[in-house]
Amino acid sequence: MDWCLDAIPEDHPTPSVIVSKDVVRKNIASMQSYCNEHGLKLRPHTKTHKSILMAREQIAAGAIGLAVAKAGEAEVMAHASNDLMIAYPAIGTKRSSMVAELATQVDLRIGVDSSDAVDYLQTAAKKRGVTIGIMLDVEVGFHRTGVVDPDVAIRLGEYVSKQSNLVMRGLMCFPGHILPNAEQDRWAAYEESLQKVVDGLRSRGIETPTISGGSTPTARDSHRNRLLNEIRPGTYIYNDLNEVRLGVCTLDECAARVLATVVSTPERNKLVIDAGSKTLSSDRNAANPDAGWGYLPMFPQAKVYRLSEEHGEIQLSDQDIADVSPPKVGERLWLVPNHICVCINLQNQFYLHDGAQLQMLPVDARGLLV
Ligand SMILES: Cc1ncc(COP(=O)(O)O)c(C=O)c1O
Repeated sequence: MDWCLDAIPEDHPTPSVIVSKDVVRKNIASMQSYCNEHGLKLRPHTKTHKSILMAREQIAAGAIGLAVAKAGEAEVMAHASNDLMIAYPAIGTKRSSMVAELATQVDLRIGVDSSDAVDYLQTAAKKRGVTIGIMLDVEVGFHRTGVVDPDVAIRLGEYVSKQSNLVMRGLMCFPGHILPNAEQDRWAAYEESLQKVVDGLRSRGIETPTISGGSTPTARDSHRNRLLNEIRPGTYIYNDLNEVRLGVCTLDECAARVLATVVSTPERNKLVIDAGSKTLSSDRNAANPDAGWGYLPMFPQAKVYRLSEEHGEIQLSDQDIADVSPPKVGERLWLVPNHICVCINLQNQFYLHDGAQLQMLPVDARGLLV
């Protein structure tokens, strides 16, 4: 955590998100090298950066394609790759027709966990005269989307295989319940949930060539599930305080930080900065919800204890200011936010920092929720 504030021009706007080019490149390279070592395809989830340029960096490093959540994001990411997966069901006529339109331009696959999702996609694909790839979303323990009962999943797979304009490409899942250093039985249960569906479909003549899993906390353990041949981590490109507190990365591996300015020092040991919930997001820390809204590298004991939309209130400890004098109004501070993906989606732009220059880049897919 040695970014020097001297390298940031005095008139640089705050609050703003600044991304270290060097750390981003290292994060991209290290995840790619893990995947290469274990024969896994990497399909980064772009919800973290929502940036065409960052997506192109991931592809250039060896990612086979990209994952997104929503159809609007897929439209944007088609500028970075022609191999896209929408890891979210396209329910509704609007979303499914956007998906069908996009399938005329790129190799597109999409997650489904219901016959309704299949019906929407089949109708839209037939109308547009395209074929859409299907990834059957299987529940593996996180309990969000995903078919829970393997027999129901197998029947849904059979249903997909009967559709004229859909083709089964594999299974997807999201192992968000598995944390670093998880017991082997969690990994075994994860593999078993998928194995039952793979076997059941195969016995009915339906192959599932891609088995796509992975989150950032599980990414580098993915070889512990022998069925996976693709992973979709997203947060790893920037990392954040959630990942640090979970033990997934170090603070030095957090590539994106918020630069904020002190706008008031109304009480002893208290600062108010110009970054509130509209910059940092209201997301609490996943591992320690009472720990406040971010980490200040220059004041490690400080707590961002309250957020309003445009105000962040910080309590400094006596220990903090024993070593460094407390910042004055107008001084700037770095913060590592709790959850970088939501923080990025609140920005129109971010700044890529190569140590000397700051390049302003758009958050291309920000706010694309459909
Ligand atoms: C379906 C899906 N795949 C992949 C990811 C990426 O996981 P992570 O944010 O841990 O990198 C997410 C994150 O929410 C997700 O919902």
